[in-house]
Amino acid sequence: MKIILLGPPGAGKGTQAAFICESQRIVQISTGEMLRAAVAAATPLGRKVKAVMDAGELVDDQTIVDLVKQRIGMPDCRNGFLFDGFPRTVPQAEAVVEADIGIDEVIEIDVPDDVVVERLSGRRIHETSGRTYHVKFNPPTTPGRDDVTGEALTQRDDDREQTIRERLRVYHGETRPLTRFYRDRTSELGVRYTRIDGARSVEEIKQAISSALGGRPD
Ligand code: AP5
Ligand code: MG
Repeated sequence: MKIILLGPPGAGKGTQAAFICESQRIVQISTGEMLRAAVAAATPLGRKVKAVMDAGELVDDQTIVDLVKQRIGMPDCRNGFLFDGFPRTVPQAEAVVEADIGIDEVIEIDVPDDVVVERLSGRRIHETSGRTYHVKFNPPTTPGRDDVTGEALTQRDDDREQTIRERLRVYHGETRPLTRFYRDRTSELGVRYTRIDGARSVEEIKQAISSALGGRPD
């Protein structure tokens, strides 16, 4: 199964991706996570993208497409994968079509802007694993500590209010058009499109996605 998860920043893509990948036994490919790992390791890619990410802008399409193509060629992707945060522009979506990747499902998590700001300003992450919490909606067992390792949680550099607003602006201009790109071309592209109301609890969204995917073979 190959899945694309669409939605604005803070929609809960990463949160739901973890559940979907576990139940479908597929790999999560988050371009944001890959880029943050490159920044943390100060690789040439990381040095190139850091300022762009901190400003809430998009990394250029060619860099992203190369990164994803390399990743899906790895052996663990053989059973399928879920794209979280990719594609994010029409040229990226066209590159997926041209590469004949064969996406089965596109799931859009739809969340209004005011909910996004509240979710992202309370987000805390465990940097090494990518595990995500929220101080109010999904708190760790011990405040400020990862449930699994007990290590300190941090805030993402781009979760400052001004950057969140810029990411939302970029989302509406560059990424939101992808909802039509897929919705209007389901039979041509051979994909199933499902829109999920994301202004609900983590558990309710998880159930809605699970029933949308129900009945699909692995
Ligand atoms: P990326 O890492 O993809 O960030 P994003 O799209 O802005 O999305 P987020 O990760 O912020 O949100 P999410 O939807 O995963 O929500 P989460 O589950 O964490 O990209 C970062 C940057 O990298 C980009 O700005 C760009 O610069 C670059 N980049 C990445 N991919 C790129 C690409 N393809 N092209 C170009 N540039 C690219 O949840 C958010 C919070 O809400 C958490 O605290 C969570 O606990 C909480 N929460 C989740 N669900 C719920 C719920 N139902 N109710 C209440 N709280 C909830
Ligand atoms: Mg994410």
